[in-house]
Amino acid sequence: MVTRTPDDAEAPSVTFSREYFDRRYTRDSDPWGLATKWYERRKYALTVASLPKAHYRNCFEPGCSIGELTRLLAPRCTRLLAVDFADSALEQARAAVREFAHVEVRQATLPEQLPGDTYDLILVSEFLYYLSSEDLDRMLDALVDRMETGGDLVAVHCRATDRRHGYDGFNVHSSIEARVELERLVHHEDEEFVLDVFRRLPSSLDGTSGDGS
Ligand SMILES: C[S@@+](CC[C@H](N)C(=O)[O-])C[C@H]1O[C@@H](n2cnc3c(N)ncnc32)[C@H](O)[C@@H]1O
Repeated sequence: MVTRTPDDAEAPSVTFSREYFDRRYTRDSDPWGLATKWYERRKYALTVASLPKAHYRNCFEPGCSIGELTRLLAPRCTRLLAVDFADSALEQARAAVREFAHVEVRQATLPEQLPGDTYDLILVSEFLYYLSSEDLDRMLDALVDRMETGGDLVAVHCRATDRRHGYDGFNVHSSIEARVELERLVHHEDEEFVLDVFRRLPSSLDGTSGDGS
């Protein structure tokens, strides 16, 4: 695989707009082949298998798209909130999880409209590299704030191998790894994607306890 460094590619200068995604969904109801491609099925299977706990109480999935991963995650959670800003995605996601009364699919623009709750599982798949570096920082700050101590953050994003300067999962996960509040439990990196599981450390261990010490 191509040798990479965290800063070998740049985040988009502006966060991708809702109009961009609406256009993609208008052209194709499943623009990335989430329901059909082997890449997605393999990645989803590994993602769900990498969850350290059998069951989570309160889960959050930003950028859920058409709900393919949401549907696989649902049996592992007592409550699950999945959000996206594209109408077509939301409509398809609601249909995908119709059998699960404990799953809510809600419209939200991120990072502006993050829910105020706290979570023992946050799962982010193929979403963070659409954010500008400012919005990525805001998003990661907000996600870490919303993680319960001992809670898990699972991130999974595609990884470029044949191009050195594509901003991708490798770069985005480096930003997560830099967070002192998180300990990495799992790292999987192959020629197609990067998958990491991070656990929220107690604030007494992360140096951000806010007590002035
Ligand atoms: C590649 S798809 C995500 C795939 C999905 N997480 C999965 O793994 O099955 C990216 C999704 O993020 C949504 N999205 C992108 N930027 C967003 C933002 N700033 N706020 C809310 N949703 C956003 C898009 O509408 C799109 O549905």
